[in-house]
Amino acid sequence: MTGVLVLNGPNLGRLGKRQPEIYGHTTYDELVELCVRWGSELGLEVTVHQTNHEGELLDWLNEAADEATPVVLNAAAWTHYSWALYDACAQLSAPLVEVHISDPSQRPEEFRHTSVVTPHAVAVIAGRGIDGYREALQALASL
Ligand code: DQA
Repeated sequence: MTGVLVLNGPNLGRLGKRQPEIYGHTTYDELVELCVRWGSELGLEVTVHQTNHEGELLDWLNEAADEATPVVLNAAAWTHYSWALYDACAQLSAPLVEVHISDPSQRPEEFRHTSVVTPHAVAVIAGRGIDGYREALQALASL
């Protein structure tokens, strides 16, 4: 079975409590369960992580690069400004799918309209809610 890392950046551990009008009512724990289940339905062995510490995300991406592991990445706010994240994504050899629960390009804050991840992604799935993670896994499974 192909291993896939689903990596989540800052504040996504508070899903379900955090601005539910934007991010919905699914909790982070439910998201983890869903991703593992969706993955196994697609023949993927999914491991899900979340961190509020940028270096930890970079370490996971470095491991993904070493092991050529495909990645689904919601880097949350780091998406919009972290050049260290840009560099970490640039070195990946297996496919990377960028996912966002909301659609940052349609949100009023100008800073959300830039992504350092997109140049390295084979697909960007945004504004599909939690189901976007399923679509991202499907995109990887179909490659
Ligand atoms: C987000 C969108 C980002 O702009 C924001 O900083 C997040 C979540 C999303 O999933 O919609 O934290 O990545």
